[in-house]
Amino acid sequence: MKKILSYIPIILLVIFLTSLKKSSTNDTLTTSNSDKVIEQKVDSVLALMHLNEKIGQLVQYSGKWNATGPSSSKTDQFKLEKLKNGEVGSMLNIASVATTRETQKIVMDNSRLKIPLIFGYDVIHGYKTIFPIPLGETASWDLNIIKNTAAIAAKETAASGIHWTFAPMIDVSRDARWGRIMEGAGEDVYLNKVVGVARINGFQGTNLTDTNTIAACAKHFAGYGFAEAGRDYNTVNVGEFELHNTILPPFKAAAEAGVATFMNSFNEIDGIPATGHKVLQRDILKRDWNWNGFIVSDWGSIGEMRNHGYAKDKKHASEIAMNAGSDMDMESYAYEANLERLLEEKKITLAQLDDAVKRVLRVKFKLGLFKDPYKYCNEEREKNNVFTEAHLAIARDGAKKSIVLLKNETNILPLSKNIKSIAVIGPLANDKDTPLGNWRGKGENNSAVSLLEGIKNAIGNNTEIHYEKGIDLTVPNIKPGSNQFLHPLEFNNTDNSGIAAAVDAAKKADVVLLAIGENAYQTGEGRSQSNIGLLGLQNELLKAVYKVNKNVVIVLMNGRPMDISWAAKHVPSILECWFLGSESGNAIADVIFGDYNPSGKLPVSFPHNVGQEPLYYNQKMTGRPSSPKHVTYSGYQDAPKTALYPFGFGLSYTTFEYKNLMLDKTEIPTNGEIKVSVDVTNTGNRDGEEVIQLYIRDLIGSITRPIKELKGFEKTMIKSGETKTIHFTINAETLQFYTINKKWEVELGDFNVWVGGDSTTNLKASFTVVD
Ligand code: NOJ
Repeated sequence: MKKILSYIPIILLVIFLTSLKKSSTNDTLTTSNSDKVIEQKVDSVLALMHLNEKIGQLVQYSGKWNATGPSSSKTDQFKLEKLKNGEVGSMLNIASVATTRETQKIVMDNSRLKIPLIFGYDVIHGYKTIFPIPLGETASWDLNIIKNTAAIAAKETAASGIHWTFAPMIDVSRDARWGRIMEGAGEDVYLNKVVGVARINGFQGTNLTDTNTIAACAKHFAGYGFAEAGRDYNTVNVGEFELHNTILPPFKAAAEAGVATFMNSFNEIDGIPATGHKVLQRDILKRDWNWNGFIVSDWGSIGEMRNHGYAKDKKHASEIAMNAGSDMDMESYAYEANLERLLEEKKITLAQLDDAVKRVLRVKFKLGLFKDPYKYCNEEREKNNVFTEAHLAIARDGAKKSIVLLKNETNILPLSKNIKSIAVIGPLANDKDTPLGNWRGKGENNSAVSLLEGIKNAIGNNTEIHYEKGIDLTVPNIKPGSNQFLHPLEFNNTDNSGIAAAVDAAKKADVVLLAIGENAYQTGEGRSQSNIGLLGLQNELLKAVYKVNKNVVIVLMNGRPMDISWAAKHVPSILECWFLGSESGNAIADVIFGDYNPSGKLPVSFPHNVGQEPLYYNQKMTGRPSSPKHVTYSGYQDAPKTALYPFGFGLSYTTFEYKNLMLDKTEIPTNGEIKVSVDVTNTGNRDGEEVIQLYIRDLIGSITRPIKELKGFEKTMIKSGETKTIHFTINAETLQFYTINKKWEVELGDFNVWVGGDSTTNLKASFTVVD
């Protein structure tokens, strides 16, 4: 009898594995039938698990390579033993087929239940083929290209053995000082919603078992983009209504789109660290939104609740995090050491633990990892599926669509390909690294097409090109490898010896292309700045060059809105080129020579100076909106309160005129619908794409409402001379907000609606919601 009893786990496992075989072809995200099958499988695995194995599923370690946070003191031997015992559920920061296979094999060969690991990696804007940074790509307002680049990133990531990306970041971000503003979709709620969903759909496809798709992660839940003073990881103080109306909607949209995972965040919100925030995680996300994926903590964020002054030790932090619904522990080493004891002491419940484990297992089943733990490990795919010509073509397409023409006063642009001479000047002009940005996945350093290369590729030998760097932006190679994720930058504030040669080059040329802005590592995690101007000696270079040649086009490469007010006043042309990725130089050349008519629009406001931050178009009115006569109004004495370049703004080589804004009715009930139409004419002599934007304002609310809110847009090609009628629908979804009743409701009363080419549009109509 005793002998039979000891065989029971093995018998159960055999039954379980047989059941897997029978139903495994049904592993898909899409049908409820398969959801049921997955639930059965999850339950049968859970029933076999010992406590240490359950806790293990909630543990995530980083590989040593590419650490993206403070490194832990745990040795490789420690991690190896844990893997062998089946006490690790996931690893991050390991990449390549060989490494992931080797790591998965440790678990498969040694652990009792052989539950596959899920491998995660920060694939933020491309894996090997690098696309524009998310903020830049959002400027395309092109949801198809955004979805496509995410799909290619997924394909390349999956080909390297990785199952899961920690993207998209959908933190509404309104402070240019915050370095991570580069990683999201900017300052607007609606844009973060639709762009986030496009990225999730790109990463996850329609079926997660497909080997070309990966699990996505909506992050950072929640409030991370509201860090006080733009200082990363800093305190967030927002009220309940701001939380619901501004911060949460993109996350709700992500949950509804079926995002497989969420990541919580480093910050506290109103005194409660997000990682230990029960209302956010258990009540809102898991209960109210009925979302069944798992939440991973941010790097060490469970342990960091000690630093917040919220937990006295890691045990206490684990208790708080588990009770709050934080499922997987990334690099805190807290759950593995404490959950068992917390259970014994009844500080957490088995039901909570089981629920967390089931969430992790569910995603693993959806990915098809139980069926084949090595399904992403295929050397052929790894060799042939990355950095292909086809992927680069899409990178170029996405990059050119992301460029925003901020100024073209004297119509220098587009340049003729027969131009006699061009000076290509600046620290970023021949920089093959900066366009890759900070979160560059496995993109090879120095692998982007530089501006200089792009210009040379675009034109023949008849044009003279005078290249001069002028200055270095940063002090190069202080230590080998110092130009990377975790290390601070040192700016060159002294060596201006190259400026004279740059001035000579500018004198000789018909036009100067001046590539300035930011180093790749100036934005991203931990890269907050109190000065968002042109750092180092860039202003000196700019002024020296402009003095001898007024035909300057600034090619700005950057990850945040910058203070470029001097340039905006003096320099005739400015192209906002973000960090555009692998094909940067070719894409910029496409725009410079008019092969592509720029169509990008800003997803963030550019300030006159840093003192205006946080700056966003959808502010509140305040009780003292303006006064031309007195100082006693809500503004600045030394700067305008509006943006230098507003949200939604971007020029084209053609012009568009908006007319005939029509509403099909002027009164609707709360569940009614209004059809909006507007005529947009291309009044210039080039064909061009325009982003037609719909804004509303709810004039009187039970809580105050923003002065304008984006509620829809359409990007469309309009031929020279053509008029297109564009249609929008306004309904309850458009009008509702989180009201004083703590519900999403449409309130009665008057509304304004505007349509136009940017957020300052004056083309207005009105309607009333009646009882
Ligand atoms: C910390 C970052 O905040 C998060 O976004 C990232 O995914 C993790 N580190 C893992 O690298």
